[in-house]
Amino acid sequence: MTSKPKVVDVHTHVYPPQYVSILKSRSKVPYVRDTTPGQPSRLIILPGEDDPSSESTARGRPIGPEYYDINKKIEFMDTHGIDISVISLANPWLDFLDRDEAKGLARDVNDAINSMCDAHPGRLFAFGALPLSAPSEVIVDEIHRLPTLKYTRGIIMGTSGLGNGLDDPELDPVYQALEQENMTIFLHPHYGLPKEVFGPRAADYGHVLPLAIGFPLETTIAVTRMILSGVFDRFPKLSVLLAHSGGTLPFLAGRLESCILHDAHYSGPGAKVESRRSVWDILKTNILLDAVVYSELGVRAAAKASGADRVLFGTDHPFFPPLEAAEGEEVKWLSVTTNYKAIGEAFGPEKEQAEAVLGGNAVRLLRLTTD
Ligand code: URA
Ligand code: ZN
Repeated sequence: MTSKPKVVDVHTHVYPPQYVSILKSRSKVPYVRDTTPGQPSRLIILPGEDDPSSESTARGRPIGPEYYDINKKIEFMDTHGIDISVISLANPWLDFLDRDEAKGLARDVNDAINSMCDAHPGRLFAFGALPLSAPSEVIVDEIHRLPTLKYTRGIIMGTSGLGNGLDDPELDPVYQALEQENMTIFLHPHYGLPKEVFGPRAADYGHVLPLAIGFPLETTIAVTRMILSGVFDRFPKLSVLLAHSGGTLPFLAGRLESCILHDAHYSGPGAKVESRRSVWDILKTNILLDAVVYSELGVRAAAKASGADRVLFGTDHPFFPPLEAAEGEEVKWLSVTTNYKAIGEAFGPEKEQAEAVLGGNAVRLLRLTTD
């Protein structure tokens, strides 16, 4: 008898209790802000989100137990037919901590998230977090500790690296350790684009510009800088899962490759770069794309760019909850049903490909078994 295909969510976040305590103890971004009595606290994490001139809808988001209570994650999974979740710390991870705090908290957070997985065996796996403000030896030590955490299969990180982006040669020891330990990087945006890009009326549009445009472009620029600086030539086995289907990378990959082929820095007689792997090769070998793109068109582009065997279902829980659900009411989230529908439509009668994207790819690529 064949078993039912598994549904795996690779893009789903949590803040463990010790991280929430830090957010509650702070009064500048990132922090949790208590508002009017009777109203839920607000989670203020994005750059510029704390501007008092902003409309209230652009000033953070309500934070409830779905952000830190792992039982709420399991309830959400059950409601949405998700068998396994690969949980990761939500942004801004440990980026804002000073070097001494970062080292200790990375260990605590990684242990706490691994323990959450242990409490629900078979249902949860994890991406850890790195103490990126600490010296690189400390970061590398934490990477080498990750395989001792039974459920950890990679790390989540943002686009700032050690402070100078992901094309920084100082990151090479980090990439080398991740490659050696077979730990996937889940590359996730947080910083968006400079606010000037969105103009003086940006706050009138809530979070739409930074989330719909800033986030995906931030990811696109970060991974493009990795490609251009030769990270994947130096670390050909490095595995990078890009949030939100790679931003705009699937759509722009052809233009990127063409610009490289027409740039004297990379190509032609005086080229400064001796050899390089093509963007298409990197997409099909090193890059994994989540399917958090909310449209058939986006899922098809992702599958065309990296292969349907490298696209992985995700939800972005607990972000993007339904705006109108009553407290405690069990409803399916539009953000999730839209992504299910997009995968179904993208593959049509190719049921096996849809099943692979919904879970099989994640089980295989992230080794989601415990024996
Ligand atoms: N907003 C965030 O800040 N993070 C996410 O992961 C999704 C939405
Ligand atoms: Zn996310």
